[in-house]
Amino acid sequence: MKGDSKERYGSISRFFHWAMALLIGWQVLKFFDRINDGEHWVGQTLVPWHISIGTLLLVLVLLRIIWAAKQKDRRPEQDPATALLVKAGHFLLYAGMLMMPITGLLYMIGNGYGWTPFGVQLVARGGEIPWMASIGSLHSPIAWLLLVMIVGHIGIALLHHFVKKDGVLRRMV
Ligand code: HEM
Ligand code: HEM
Repeated sequence: MKGDSKERYGSISRFFHWAMALLIGWQVLKFFDRINDGEHWVGQTLVPWHISIGTLLLVLVLLRIIWAAKQKDRRPEQDPATALLVKAGHFLLYAGMLMMPITGLLYMIGNGYGWTPFGVQLVARGGEIPWMASIGSLHSPIAWLLLVMIVGHIGIALLHHFVKKDGVLRRMV
């Protein structure tokens, strides 16, 4: 089924969830630039795609937000005891997924590096734009916060599956 239902997430929501989880996992490898200045296989093979994959993620998150809004009233039900907490947690994950590419873009353009995803020049190199660069400097702190949220999210999903055994993980797979 393409759309969501009260029992499970439909194929489109599952596609967004797992494709973006994979691509965000790829993006987080940018942290490995901190090891030996990126002079290793991960830094030389996977990390150079950072701008392109990040731009793709910007498009995906915008489409995902529109899709989630359309599915609002027919998504799987949450346990009423923790429903508000789950909503807040998922909202923060969305906020992180949206803020990462936006701040990344502002970092690049604000510091005068331009924006060339997948070899297509969308913004040429130019002068610095201080207000953009200063919002862009939030890219790294938000990346750390998102990483903590993702680790928590995965931990809770595994807790549901292996400890509570309540089928919450199964409705997303
Ligand atoms: C969901 C999308 C994205 C994620 C999860 C992500 C994640 C990250 C992470 C984990 C780092 C390393 C931060 C650190 O070592 O402190 C980083 C750095 C960086 N990212 Fe992204 N990023 C995303 C999108 C983008 C986009 C779209 C751009 C540019 C168009 C971009 C440009 C950069 C730049 C320039 C750096 C280096 C910043 C610095 O050296 O301080 N990122 N990103
Ligand atoms: C980058 C990594 C991830 C992000 C950003 C993320 C984000 C989200 C978001 C925003 C939702 C709410 C539903 C939606 O709108 O799609 C969700 C649901 C869910 N995620 Fe993830 N996720 C990630 C990785 C994972 C992983 C690795 C697992 C499994 C171990 C997982 C398991 C689940 C489950 C089971 C749900 C459904 C929870 C419910 O009943 O509402 N997620 N995820």
